[in-house]
Amino acid sequence: MKVIATDVNDNVARMKEMVAEQQKKSGVAADPYFYRSHVTYEQELSNIIFKSWLYAGHISQVPNNGDYFLMDIGEDSIIVSRDQNGEIQSQHNICRHRGARVCEEPSGNRKTFVCPYHGWVYNTDGSLKAARHMDALEGFDCSDYNLKKVKVNVYKGMIFINCDINAEEFLPSLQKLDIPFSGYHMENAKIAQKKTYKVDANWKLVLENYLECYHCATSHRQYAKMHTLKDLACNTDSLNQAMHERSAEATGIDGVANEVWAIYDDAPHFGGCVYTSRYALYDGFKTGSQDGQPVAPLMGDFKGYDGGVGDYQMGPLTFMLNYPDHCVLYRFVPRGLTETDMEIIWFVNGDAEEGADYNPEKVSWLWHHTTLEDEFIIMRNSAGVNSRFFEPGPYHPEFEEISMQFVAWYLDALAR
Ligand code: FES
Ligand SMILES: [Fe+2]
Repeated sequence: MKVIATDVNDNVARMKEMVAEQQKKSGVAADPYFYRSHVTYEQELSNIIFKSWLYAGHISQVPNNGDYFLMDIGEDSIIVSRDQNGEIQSQHNICRHRGARVCEEPSGNRKTFVCPYHGWVYNTDGSLKAARHMDALEGFDCSDYNLKKVKVNVYKGMIFINCDINAEEFLPSLQKLDIPFSGYHMENAKIAQKKTYKVDANWKLVLENYLECYHCATSHRQYAKMHTLKDLACNTDSLNQAMHERSAEATGIDGVANEVWAIYDDAPHFGGCVYTSRYALYDGFKTGSQDGQPVAPLMGDFKGYDGGVGDYQMGPLTFMLNYPDHCVLYRFVPRGLTETDMEIIWFVNGDAEEGADYNPEKVSWLWHHTTLEDEFIIMRNSAGVNSRFFEPGPYHPEFEEISMQFVAWYLDALAR
């Protein structure tokens, strides 16, 4: 469903009424209105997306001074760069003269960003270095026209950005994950594979699908063979308990299975969700690969396999699944009312060598195929949800509990 007809009677007051109506129906999936309304999408960008901490990239993408990459959010483009002093910087890719994009190449190395329109020159930290002939304008001062800043926090090599310059720092929240995260050495990790899946569906449908595993048994046969999350907790308690008992010794990392739960309404601050827990794979499986067997050398300090996988959330739209031999990062970014970029990055240990130690196709096999299956069901979900005849049904109380928490948080954020 690519194009949704504009409802000319839609407005912010109507959206607020719809939010109030939906808030009375806890436990029921959201009304089609929230997936169809252009007014709502605009409000989501202002109230949620541009006020949340989002994963932008990994420091290995900008190893040298002057290295940069672009990140697209909605209709916007953000520059993430390492400036000439070695600091990670982020700014809006919008010239302060008359608004042209100052950089078009998705990544590269630059001494300066030169606007292609009238040639204003910006340093890699975003400061305006020169503006052709603008000395003709009395009082013109370059320092008044630096590129607009985006906030940056770097955690274990992962670069997070927030377009709300007054947002609370994310680092203190992320540091709650320090103990279970410590063994992976993410700051030295290497990107083995990176893929962007462009899904023709509203970002909330893509996210809600990620937040529940009710669909895993029916949609993901290969994943469900290995991962106990596809079943109710009462059926997997003993497997999880056994994994928890052996995890510290088997991996060599104390606290690798520690749990942290502070997401959505329980997050330390708006857009600063943090969560982790470790769940079991079925007996005989060691990692998330085509056959459940290792596909890369162990990460960081890991000494062995415990038959577990670390589930992480960092901010409202970034997730990780961390196996002892590789880590998989998921990021969802809205690109329009019915377009979402689902980006997946597969990390291996920093000194692993492609070809000798790992094959990128094997490392990414399981989650690439699982994501194609997700794409397939999300598109069908989108087609049905966008029908005026769709009447939302009840969420499953256990499997879809986090989807419910997300929707409650989302409605509050929309109404603010
Ligand atoms: S718009 Fe960039 S120099 Fe004019
Ligand atoms: Fe899925």
